[in-house]
Amino acid sequence: MALLDIRDLHVTFLSTGKEAVRGVDLTVEPGQRLGLVGESGSGKTVTAMALSGLIERWNVDMSGQVLFDGRDLLTCSRDQLRKIQGRDIGVVFQEPMTSLNPLMRVGRQVEEVLKIHTDLSPDERRAKALEAMAQVGLPDPERTYEKYPHQLSGGQRQRAVIASAMVIRPRLLICDEPTTALDVTVQAQILSLLKSFSTDHGVAILLISHDLRVVRRLCERVAVMHRGRIVERGDTDAVFADPQEEYTKRLIAAIPQRKRHG
Ligand SMILES: Nc1ncnc2c1ncn2[C@@H]1O[C@H](COP(=O)(O)OP(=O)(O)O)[C@@H](O)[C@H]1O
Ligand SMILES: [Mg+2]
Repeated sequence: MALLDIRDLHVTFLSTGKEAVRGVDLTVEPGQRLGLVGESGSGKTVTAMALSGLIERWNVDMSGQVLFDGRDLLTCSRDQLRKIQGRDIGVVFQEPMTSLNPLMRVGRQVEEVLKIHTDLSPDERRAKALEAMAQVGLPDPERTYEKYPHQLSGGQRQRAVIASAMVIRPRLLICDEPTTALDVTVQAQILSLLKSFSTDHGVAILLISHDLRVVRRLCERVAVMHRGRIVERGDTDAVFADPQEEYTKRLIAAIPQRKRHG
């Protein structure tokens, strides 16, 4: 059974009447890394929000199915949803400051999910948080644990968000433009970090990016989104080598030449 199986997902905003997602089908197998690419405004983030339960339900009309491990996230109760989110599904968004509480020490935030979803003692939680912080390459975890988000660099903040998503070993990590706000060097480091997490622990990743190069680095499969629909999908290498759709060809042609293989 697929880990995530999205069937004919439609999302319409009630405030504007805009149908942002218009019949999306996607599957992610356990441990698989799938890239979702498309220009700005194509509906990628709305799809991610619908999956992660972060969408404002009062403002949308949704139909279709979002099966996680066979359970439909669109119809399950708030309690069930809360259990699955955080524990089984982690999220990493573009701007780490939106995921981090500016008033809470970094280490506390990394262990927050353990507090909610496990019976671990405070000492055990702290130990796991420090371990996760070391794994994501945060310097001097003991000291960083005590810091506040504004005392970290942008790259360190994103590492902290990844540590807080990974500390509980979710089965699926949804990453929406996780490196877009970072400079190129840090971007590469974060992508290889995500990749090793995925391969070491069998964590599936849904990586959303407007940047095909990012997807190519990380994902074995890719789906191309355009105006709320998936217009092309396949193995990343195959889609890059021989895109079938005009839209995909244009996306690939728009990659700066010098970095096309980067
Ligand atoms: N809260 C909202 N209310 C109304 N429309 C929205 C909202 N969020 C996103 N949209 C619209 O949905 C469409 C898809 O947006 P989005 O998923 O953010 O695109 P992207 O592919 O860049 O992530 C856009 O037309 C956007 O204006
Ligand atoms: Mg987006």
